[in-house]
Amino acid sequence: MPESNRTATLTFDNKSIEMPIYSPSVGPDVIDIRKLYAQGDVFTFDPGFTSTAACESSITYIDGDKGELLYRGYPIEQLAEKSTYLESCFLLLYGELPTTTQLRDFVHRVTRHTMVHEQMHYFFRGFRRDAHPMATLVGVVGAMSAFYHDSLDINDPWQREVAAIRLIAKLPTLAAMAYKYSLGQPFVYPRNDLDYASNFLHMCFSVPAEPYQVNPVLAKAMDRIFLLHADHEQNASTSTVRLAGSSGANPFACIAAGIACLWGPAHGGANQACLEMLREIGTVDRIPEYIARAKDKNDSFRLMGFGHRVYKNFDPRAKVMKESADEVLDLLGIHNNETLKVAKELERIALEDPYFIEKKLYPNVDFYSGIILEAMGFPTSMFTPIFALSRTVGWISQWKEMLGEKDQKIGRPRQLYVGPTKRDYTDIAGR
Ligand code: ACO
Repeated sequence: MPESNRTATLTFDNKSIEMPIYSPSVGPDVIDIRKLYAQGDVFTFDPGFTSTAACESSITYIDGDKGELLYRGYPIEQLAEKSTYLESCFLLLYGELPTTTQLRDFVHRVTRHTMVHEQMHYFFRGFRRDAHPMATLVGVVGAMSAFYHDSLDINDPWQREVAAIRLIAKLPTLAAMAYKYSLGQPFVYPRNDLDYASNFLHMCFSVPAEPYQVNPVLAKAMDRIFLLHADHEQNASTSTVRLAGSSGANPFACIAAGIACLWGPAHGGANQACLEMLREIGTVDRIPEYIARAKDKNDSFRLMGFGHRVYKNFDPRAKVMKESADEVLDLLGIHNNETLKVAKELERIALEDPYFIEKKLYPNVDFYSGIILEAMGFPTSMFTPIFALSRTVGWISQWKEMLGEKDQKIGRPRQLYVGPTKRDYTDIAGR
């Protein structure tokens, strides 16, 4: 915790409470309200955590007004251009960019853990064939607790480390298996001679009956998608992982909780929802109708892939993702696709429309990632599993950071209770 040399004073009901103010290395100051209840007998009220820092962290920093995202201080644009996903994983997990030897060792460790317990293949077969891959993924990641007993002790730093490597290494395998299962195709074993992204494409798109050559441009784009999604500060799924972990739950259970939270359309599920929306709009001439619906207070429809809780200028990941989208579409010769035309026109109109400008609603990362993933051949149902596998390193880094805290406490928010006051039970006949 940084030193505090300033205080904020809260005065109410003849009480005056002094609270320390801490200055972060960058970003808004934080008022420490931890003594507020003990000294003032009041809670704070902040549903949605719009003004609440729930933890101290040194992993990722976002400046929503500047459109800045830093992993351990390094701008996302530089990492996207110069780094790789696994190098950035090392950075997120351990705090510094690796040396050549450290990177080689880390890549080796991850690569040697890509296979999953053979019995997990049978576990998969319990799911309905048409299960959404996210449903399968939540289940099998939670079930890893049943397969890897030797990395469940959260008080043992070595076991925490093994669990972290296992999760980063096995998530692509499990996500690819979820996909293959939904297609009715045989599972494809990982290939340790391929890099992380190429191996994932291999496990998703190859079949035993014929050779499959990974396209290096697609592998690079895939790696970049992983990197851009690797961490994002205290978002909903990360906070879920922290909250689950704060009770001492095992790492596989915590990551399964994060995957469940990510699934929602307001969060990681937005990439699937966005592409489905583009398809539903169908043709450029129908865009005004959807823009009108998005603005209508009585219509719950929102333009998926637009807006962000923190970014109020632009989403820096979206900028990089847009470049990648252009590269991939060029490579695949996709120029006249109707969905793409709708996306481009929607983006143009929304960026010029006063409603979107006033509310600071810009295309977010999900707006472009879906376009690339579709061009690569992934069905929309795989978009969120791909997000989940990319984010696993962020979740596990934040989980490890939390467990390393000196005074780590179980997360336990309070409430503004508005229900009935105490009353006596009435017998059913008298109700
Ligand atoms: N389309 C139309 N209007 C919108 C949109 C949108 N996509 N997003 C926000 N608004 C409007 C709201 O109606 C609200 O209007 P009001 O002030 O008149 O009531 C205002 O903008 C503020 O919106 P909030 O919901 O209060 O903003 P919040 O920060 O809570 O929500 C969120 C952020 C959930 C991302 C929201 O913008 C949204 O639902 N977007 C679509 C889903 C999406 O793309 N999610 C992906 C986020 S990125 C990620 O998780 C990787």
